[in-house]
Amino acid sequence: MKFFLLGFMGAGKSHWGRIWSHQHELDFFDLDHVIEKEAGKTIAQIFDEMGESIFRELEKHALHQFEGRDHFILSCGGGTPCFFNNMSWMNSNGITIYLKTPIEVLKERLRREQMHRPLISSFNEEQLDLYIRRKLEERENYYNKSAFIVESDLVSPNTFTEIVNRYV
Ligand code: S3P
Repeated sequence: MKFFLLGFMGAGKSHWGRIWSHQHELDFFDLDHVIEKEAGKTIAQIFDEMGESIFRELEKHALHQFEGRDHFILSCGGGTPCFFNNMSWMNSNGITIYLKTPIEVLKERLRREQMHRPLISSFNEEQLDLYIRRKLEERENYYNKSAFIVESDLVSPNTFTEIVNRYV
């Protein structure tokens, strides 16, 4: 019972991770929060002060700490599956679930939350649009290796129950 929730920024990983973990009495973790706690800095500070490549090292390190844990849902960062061998590591260590979300929905959500996200905070509308399209296309190669792909407009509290039922 180790579940890794994957998807683009704004896909609703933390939202559904919290609901599903509560329903199934699993622990819930957000990988960004694990990184922030370890580093004693916010994600934005880590990007600003250390750069993305150090962030990716910290992210991998935080992910690997889940090797010895069980009974959890981990909401990963949007980029987590796309660096090092993180995707195959997650597939060998648990069950990966991709929350697949239409571009228009991501755009709408990210436009509202843009300021808090270091990778996109400086973009105007056009740049944000282009960034999401390009990154999503590139990242779907990784996301699509997930054990389960859930369309976000069909997702419900029962979605996770159906996935769990395949394993018990
Ligand atoms: C990132 C997504 C963020 C966070 C960091 C990088 C990305 O996580 O890990 O800002 O590369 O897409 P969320 O997807 O939880 O927002």
